[in-house]
Amino acid sequence: MSKKPVRVAVTGAAGQIGYALLFRIASGEMLGKDQPVILQLLEIPDEKAQKALKGVIMELDDCAFPLLVGIEAHSDPMTAFKDTDYALLVGSRPRGPGMERAELLAVNGAIFTAQGKALNAVASRNVKVLVVGNPANTNAYIAMKSAPDLPRKNFTAMLRLDHNRAASQLAAKTGKPVADIEKLTVWGNHSPTMYADYRFATIGGESVAKMINDQVWNADTFLPTVGKRGAAIIEARGLSSAASAANAAIDHMRDWALGTNGKWVTMGIPSDGQYGIPKDVMFGFPVTCENGEYKLVEGLEIDAFSQERIDKTLAELQSEQDGVKHLL
Ligand code: NAD
Ligand code: LMR
Repeated sequence: MSKKPVRVAVTGAAGQIGYALLFRIASGEMLGKDQPVILQLLEIPDEKAQKALKGVIMELDDCAFPLLVGIEAHSDPMTAFKDTDYALLVGSRPRGPGMERAELLAVNGAIFTAQGKALNAVASRNVKVLVVGNPANTNAYIAMKSAPDLPRKNFTAMLRLDHNRAASQLAAKTGKPVADIEKLTVWGNHSPTMYADYRFATIGGESVAKMINDQVWNADTFLPTVGKRGAAIIEARGLSSAASAANAAIDHMRDWALGTNGKWVTMGIPSDGQYGIPKDVMFGFPVTCENGEYKLVEGLEIDAFSQERIDKTLAELQSEQDGVKHLL
C-alpha cells in the first residue's frame, strides 16, 4: 500500500535556491522514492514574485512527478504552513557582493518572527523546521522563540553546506573519496567564525588529522577556505550559492527524516547546555539521526585551539541574539 502523503512547505519558492530545491523534493530525493508529497509554496504577495511562483509550478506540473500529489501557492504563512510536516524556510534576502552578514539581520530577522508564529499556530505538532535564510542560526532562533507551543527540538539551522564544503576540501587535500569521510563536524555559526573540525575525522578508518598532519594548513588554509566559501561564491558568480545550498538542505532533511546509519552529520540545533554552549543557542553540532530524531554526539574532547574557535563563534551568536531581542 502506498504511503500517506506528507506536507512540505517551502518559503522563497520562486527564488534561486527554491528553483534548485523543489524539483528534487518532488522527485523523492529528500524523503524517499516511496513518499508522496504535497508542496505548500510561499512567496511574498508582490505580483512579480507570485507570477514567478506560478511559472515554477507550471514547470513542476510539466515534470509529471509520480510522487507529487499536490501543489499549493501561498502568499500568507498562516495558510502556507497549515498542517505542514516539514518546513524549509529559505525565503529572505541574500547577501550581495561586499555585504556583511550582520546587515542581513536587520532586513531578515522580522520575517522569522512572523513565520515562527504561523508555524506555532497552524503547523503539525511534529513539524521539522530547517532555516536556510541568512543569518540562518539566528533566524532559526527567532522562529523557535516565536513558536512556544512547538517543541524546541523541531527547529534547526543549516550548517550542512559548511559540512559538505569541509568534506570536499579534505577529500581534495588527502586525495581520498569524499564519500569515505566520517566523523567530521562544523561547530557554531553559519558564518566565517564557524569551526570546521576534522580532529575526529576518519577515511577508511584512518585518522584524517594524522594523514594531513599540518596545523598551519588547518589554521591558515582550511578554516578560512571553508569559512569564507560563501563570499568566494558570491564574488565569482555575482549571486550567492544556490544549487549547493539546495543540495545541503536536501541532505539535512533527508538525514533527519530517514536517519544516518550512525554516521555523523552537522546540524544547527538548539543547545541543551552541552559543550558549554548556553541553552537555546542555535549552534552547529555533530549529530547522528535515527527514527526521525537527531542525537548530539557527546563527550568529545575539546582542546585549547578548538575551545578558542568555539568561544569565538559562540560570542558572535550571542551578539546576534542580543541584536534581535526586540523582535522576541
Ligand atoms: P533569492 O533572492 O533568489 O530568493 C529568495 C526568495 O525569497 C525571493 O523569491 C523572495 O521573494 C522570497 N522571500 C523574501 N521574503 C519572503 C518571505 N517573507 N516569505 C516568503 N518568501 C520570501 O535568494 P536565494 O539565493 O534563494 O537565497 C535565499 C536565502 O538563503 C538568503 O538569505 C541566502 O543568504 C540564504 N542562503 C543560506 C545558505 C546556508 O548555508 N544557510 C546558503 C545559501 C544561501
Ligand atoms: C553561503 O554560505 O553560500 C551563503 O550563506 C551565502 C552567504 O551569504 O555566504
